[in-house]
Amino acid sequence: MNFNIISYEDKYLNQVLDLLNSVFDFHYTEDYINTGLSEKYVVLENGKVIGFFEFSILSDLGEIFMIAVDKNFHGKGIGKVIMEFILEKMKEENVKEIYLDVSVNNKRAINFYKKYGFEELYIREKYYRNLEDAILMKKQL
Ligand SMILES: CC(C)(COP(=O)(O)OP(=O)(O)OC[C@H]1O[C@@H](n2cnc3c(N)ncnc32)[C@H](O)[C@@H]1OP(=O)(O)O)[C@@H](O)C(=O)NCCC(=O)NCCS
Repeated sequence: MNFNIISYEDKYLNQVLDLLNSVFDFHYTEDYINTGLSEKYVVLENGKVIGFFEFSILSDLGEIFMIAVDKNFHGKGIGKVIMEFILEKMKEENVKEIYLDVSVNNKRAINFYKKYGFEELYIREKYYRNLEDAILMKKQL
């Protein structure tokens, strides 16, 4: 597959919203994308958005807010490339600990994160707006 990762730009807004709304139950709007200080990236295949991810680095703490890959491209190694990209950036910036939240019901994502060394810390009850519980996960670098 021939894809590349670039920083998010406004021109990708609609494609990113379509992607997020197709893989998550929550309804995402422009406000979500334009709020917060996270670093945002898209994965492009022939100019089309097939992935989106965001994270932040604050001193030696990293947080992954979201990784989303187009359903048609699941299981093809794109999540792996995204994770390697994030880990590389965080190592460059001397991050020591990375945190993320994932829904307890999202078994595929939990497996995905465990594969890259994230460990379950504890459950945050009713963490999401739909009242699903989240698992807080942590990886030491
Ligand atoms: C989770 C997600 C990002 C993984 O991306 P992907 O491109 O499908 O993942 P990859 O093909 O790179 O797989 C990487 C590893 O993840 C794990 N994994 C991926 N899909 C899996 C599945 N269906 N079941 C179990 N493990 C899985 C495997 O360990 C896999 O490694 P392997 O192929 O060597 O066994 C993707 O499924 C996704 O976007 N899901 C919807 C959005 C989401 O839930 N995001 C995470 C919460 S923010």
